[in-house]
Amino acid sequence: MAWQDKVAVIAAAGSGIGRMSAIALSGAGATVALIDLNGDSVRELAREIVEAGGRASAHQADLGCVDQIQRVAAEIGGVVPHVDILVSNVGMPNPHGIDGISEAQWEKSVDVNLKSGFFLTQAVLPLMRRTGNGGSIIYTSSAAGLVGSFTSPLYSLTKAGLIGLTKSLCVVLAPEGIRVNAVCPGPVRTPMLAGFMAKGQESIDEVAELYSSRVPLGRVAEPSEIAASILFLAGDESSYLTGVALPVDGGYTAV
Ligand SMILES: NC(=O)c1ccc[n+]([C@@H]2O[C@H](COP(=O)([O-])OP(=O)(O)OC[C@H]3O[C@@H](n4cnc5c(N)ncnc54)[C@H](O)[C@@H]3O)[C@@H](O)[C@H]2O)c1
Repeated sequence: MAWQDKVAVIAAAGSGIGRMSAIALSGAGATVALIDLNGDSVRELAREIVEAGGRASAHQADLGCVDQIQRVAAEIGGVVPHVDILVSNVGMPNPHGIDGISEAQWEKSVDVNLKSGFFLTQAVLPLMRRTGNGGSIIYTSSAAGLVGSFTSPLYSLTKAGLIGLTKSLCVVLAPEGIRVNAVCPGPVRTPMLAGFMAKGQESIDEVAELYSSRVPLGRVAEPSEIAASILFLAGDESSYLTGVALPVDGGYTAV
């Protein structure tokens, strides 16, 4: 299928990796449906994409809530003919360590980082099945889903869960020609990076510096570098690639 005929749903598209993925997919020619908790951020991005000659719609939802996932999928189903690509990219930094973490914090982390991926996929699949041409689902996991996190076991368990979901859905959806993969970024220069160290945006350079010392390539990634891998997994160039958790981490998980 030509990029011009493809429709991509991108979750958490208002910032960072999601924003750059939307720009990359739209730049390739796809129509993009952008979801974010921050409605203004995706409305602004959709406006920029349309002004640049692309096709985009903006949708506000808290993807940690199943009823909002179902509502936003129905909304998207009303404005696009079908969906070919789902970039399930929602996540949040989680509390550090294990002592003192409450059940409410655990549930919030699991809702936003893990449950969102499962139920967004469930809600979008009927739109992906409209063509009978298969599709591509990409989860944003993390290097912390592949190896232990030195800060947040809770974050690590949610991102490892997405890899289990990737491998299982790869098998379940393969008969329909739907490929399922995950990207596992190392540290990326986005607003979330400072959050991983429980610091504010003013500390982003300091936090990037701290993480850089743990990365063999000696620097954190730019969000466009993760988006490039997402574009590859979304497109026909990766047509025989499914069930993979791809580290995009400058070598972080190789040592
Ligand atoms: N930045 C990193 O170092 C890094 C590393 C590995 C994995 N990741 C993962 O990459 C993904 C994207 O992170 P990023 O670094 O681009 O972050 P970011 O802070 O730049 O963007 C996150 C976006 O998610 C949106 N969002 C947050 N909660 C939401 C919710 N409940 N429903 C809908 N939207 C919500 C925010 O409004 C924001 O636009 C996340 O899943 C994150 O865990 C990030």
